[in-house]
Amino acid sequence: MADRSNPVYCAVDTVDLPLAARLIRSVTGGTCPAVGGIKLGLEFFLAHGAPGVRYAFPAPVRATGIGFFLDLKLHDIPNTVAGGIRAVVELEPTFITIHTAGGPAMMRAAAETAAAEASRLGVARPRLLGVTVLTSLDRADLEATGVAADPSGQVLRLAALARRSGLDGVICSPLEIAALRAECGPDFVLMVPGIRPAGSATGDQKRVMTPGEAVRLGAHHLVIGRPITEASDPAAAAQAIARELGAG
Ligand code: C5P
Repeated sequence: MADRSNPVYCAVDTVDLPLAARLIRSVTGGTCPAVGGIKLGLEFFLAHGAPGVRYAFPAPVRATGIGFFLDLKLHDIPNTVAGGIRAVVELEPTFITIHTAGGPAMMRAAAETAAAEASRLGVARPRLLGVTVLTSLDRADLEATGVAADPSGQVLRLAALARRSGLDGVICSPLEIAALRAECGPDFVLMVPGIRPAGSATGDQKRVMTPGEAVRLGAHHLVIGRPITEASDPAAAAQAIARELGAG
C-alpha cells in the first residue's frame, strides 16, 4: 500500500468502563499503535457520556494521532440533530454518524453545525458519515416501511444524497464498496464494518470480507470489533491485521 497509515478502527462495544479503558490502552499504546482509531457507539455513550469518553480515551492518547469514531447514528429533525452534533464537537471526534434517511435538510444542518462549532472551538472539523440502509434490513423490511426500491439501489441513492448534502462519506457493507466507490468518487469516505481476518469467527456477521480485500476494493477505513476485542491478546490480534494491510 502506498499509504501505510493504519485504516482499522477498533469497535469497543461495552458498557464496562474499566474494560473499555484497558482495551483502548492496549491497542493504542506503545511506540507503534496497533490500530488507527477507536470506535465508541451508542452502548458506551449512553452509559458513560462525555466523561466516560475522556476517561477511557484520554487526551494524551488522542494526541498521538489516534482517530476517534463516535458512532451515534443520529436521526431527528434538523435543529435537534444539529444540537446533538454541537454538543459533542468538544470531544473532537474524527467521525460522527447520522442517518441519511433524516433527509437533506437534516444532513446539511449537521454538516454546517459541525463546521461552525469546530471553528468556534478551534478544533478540527469532525467528518460526518451517513448510515444508509441498515444491513439488518432486507427488501421485505424496506417494502414494509413504504420503500419500493431494492436495498442496494436505495444504498446508492442515499449515499449520493448524502454527498450532495455535505456529508463526507458513508458507512457501508463490504459488498457495497465497489458500487459506492464508482458512484461517489475517490474522496468520499467509505467506513466498512463486517470485516473478518481470514480464519476468524464470523459471529453474527453474515456477509464478511477480509481486511485486505476490503481495502483493495476501495474502503478507506475498516471497523473491526470482536476479532480484536475478544482475542486473548487484543494488541497482537490488531498488529497481525495491520501487518496484513502493510500498515504495521
Ligand atoms: O465485532 P464486530 O467486528 O462484528 O463489530 C462491528 C462493529 O460495526 C459493531 O460496532 C457494529 O455495531 C458495527 N456495525 C456492523 N454492521 C453494520 C453497521 C455497523 O457490524 N452494518
